[in-house]
Amino acid sequence: MRYITTPIYYVNDVPHIGHAYTSVAADTLARFYRLLGEETFLLTGTDEHGQKVETSAKAEGIEPIALADRVVKRFQGVWERLEIAPDDFIRTTEPRHAKAVQHLFRELEAKGDIYLGSYEDWYCTPCESYWTELQLDDDGHCPDCHREVTKLAEESYFFRMSAYQERLLDHIRSHPDFIEPEVRRNEILRFVEGGLRDLSISRTTFSWGVPVPDNPQHVVYVWFDALINYLTGAGYPDDAARFARQWPARVHVIGKDILRFHAVYWPCFLLAAGLPLPEQIFSHGWWTIDGAKMSKSVGNVVDPNAIIDAYGADPFRYFLLREATFGLDADFSEAALVRRINADLANDLGNLASRVLTMVRRYEEGRWPEADAAAPPLADEAAAAIGQWREAMARLAFHEALKSVWRLIGRLNQYVVESEPWALAKEEAARPRLRGVLRNLLEGLRLVALMVSPVMPVKGRELLTQLGSPEPATPAWGGPPAGTPLGEAAPLFPRIEVERAAGSKGAKAQEEKKKKVEETSNSRETVPKSTADGRINIDDFARVALRVGVVREAEAIPGSDKLLALTVDVGEEAPRTIVAGIGQSYGAEAVVGRRVAVVANLKPAKLFGVRSEGMVLATGDGPDHLTLIAVPDGPPPGSRIR
Ligand code: ME8
Repeated sequence: MRYITTPIYYVNDVPHIGHAYTSVAADTLARFYRLLGEETFLLTGTDEHGQKVETSAKAEGIEPIALADRVVKRFQGVWERLEIAPDDFIRTTEPRHAKAVQHLFRELEAKGDIYLGSYEDWYCTPCESYWTELQLDDDGHCPDCHREVTKLAEESYFFRMSAYQERLLDHIRSHPDFIEPEVRRNEILRFVEGGLRDLSISRTTFSWGVPVPDNPQHVVYVWFDALINYLTGAGYPDDAARFARQWPARVHVIGKDILRFHAVYWPCFLLAAGLPLPEQIFSHGWWTIDGAKMSKSVGNVVDPNAIIDAYGADPFRYFLLREATFGLDADFSEAALVRRINADLANDLGNLASRVLTMVRRYEEGRWPEADAAAPPLADEAAAAIGQWREAMARLAFHEALKSVWRLIGRLNQYVVESEPWALAKEEAARPRLRGVLRNLLEGLRLVALMVSPVMPVKGRELLTQLGSPEPATPAWGGPPAGTPLGEAAPLFPRIEVERAAGSKGAKAQEEKKKKVEETSNSRETVPKSTADGRINIDDFARVALRVGVVREAEAIPGSDKLLALTVDVGEEAPRTIVAGIGQSYGAEAVVGRRVAVVANLKPAKLFGVRSEGMVLATGDGPDHLTLIAVPDGPPPGSRIR
């Protein structure tokens, strides 16, 4: 079974689009597997214990469970509106979960992997985490959230994590897909290689939690409690038959801020319990606003309800998965959302669907026609797109999967233009060919509808219904029998008027800011202006210092969706920083080690606060279709290109 989980969300938080992102991704993957006919189980829920909930409830003069009962609905409500369809919603305050936690606690205690000791360290209350002196930041604050920490000493149960360091390292090394993406895997490898300390897993300073078995003065540490939800959701410990089918999980989808808990603590607990480890932990990046992580404490959260109200759930889901490379950070802006809706959904897909459906109504009485050998077939191209889509979806590379679907949409649009159905309709002799063309287009659209449906379940279904073929199916060239009637027509993706978008949530301000950035980057002088007819002479060209470079390091620039900061060796004493607008076409990891063509004497410019000394050359139509100009092996960094 494909068992897919989201994290359980802190119940006292207000859901924002960062939370929505994790859930949309996990739900999309679950829908993908369901479409392929695989047995799938999606789990989500809420994390309801801990000091913060206890304190908030006290402040309101109510019991913590009353608070949790009230606020859990915020999450359930928004998931429903976002078409998130979990098979189970777990709340850590449910008795079935307390039972699972206590069961695992007892097992590990009986094995000697949990022992009673005493603990003194720096505690960050908002993060519910202990830190050693060395781990604190330069100001002596929490290294994660940079808020104040307090020294706490308490009697505590410990989990013997140090005993699992080597086995965990072995597992990570021998399972290259265990932690994705690779940059996170390397981060965790370094961390574990640095040594694991035993972990304090109980608290006596508050009482809102699962009591430690036989010592209820202690409650179980929130992370020990929370992680076990993945077992509870699979039927542990009572439903052995379901557990055997469901566990281990195919993937825990999480954000990078909670990677260490999932990729270090959690596997160690499981190793100690003798349980198999999840197949994969996939850590996605953050949604930022002007470069800062979206979070309640920063106060820059965007409410998914407002976005759903303005644009609908499906376009929002599409945007989240198409705009960001899954695994990397991306900046959220309503202006970018509107651009995607108008360009990709209304123009590319919506227009294609309405054109094809109108022609089938006009020329074929609204029924699926027969195939015809004279109509140039699209089956091979569609099969290639399906193959790429499947492969990318299974890697959780949602943006790539969507790109493959949009390549097929592009091909279908081109096919309409090439085959000119309106001209074929004028000649009686061309009627069979016209039928073949229209059938190819309908079938192409049916496959597109199926492939977009994990991301846009409602719109996918609507399009399939309009095509008269509403059944979900594994995408494969075929289609309903000739004579099948189309469904009712209705516009799929209305265009968003820019005024409307600009009116809501500062999209206009974002647009202006972007324009400014683009203007500054365009104002850099590159090639000298030359003769009146636009041609340059050889001396002009010689002024451009083109050099071979090798990218040594790369990272995404927070706050920008397309810029990468590259550290490029151009044969000088030290490598340079060059900012390149290739982030929608390449992940940072993908360019490290590449040989590139560099304009080495470009005036430096500051982009998103990063000083760029030069430019790398690329080609392609649009920021997400760029290919770096290839430089052959051989010439060392710094060699002239002429
Ligand atoms: O961490 N961009 O819950 P949570 C992208 N209860 N993702 C974001 C984000 C952002 N700006 N902000 C938050 C917890 N997230 C624990 C989990 S699991 C056993 C216990 C993501 O409500 C974050 O990365 O703080 C995480 O995946 C999810 O929201 C839940 O965060």
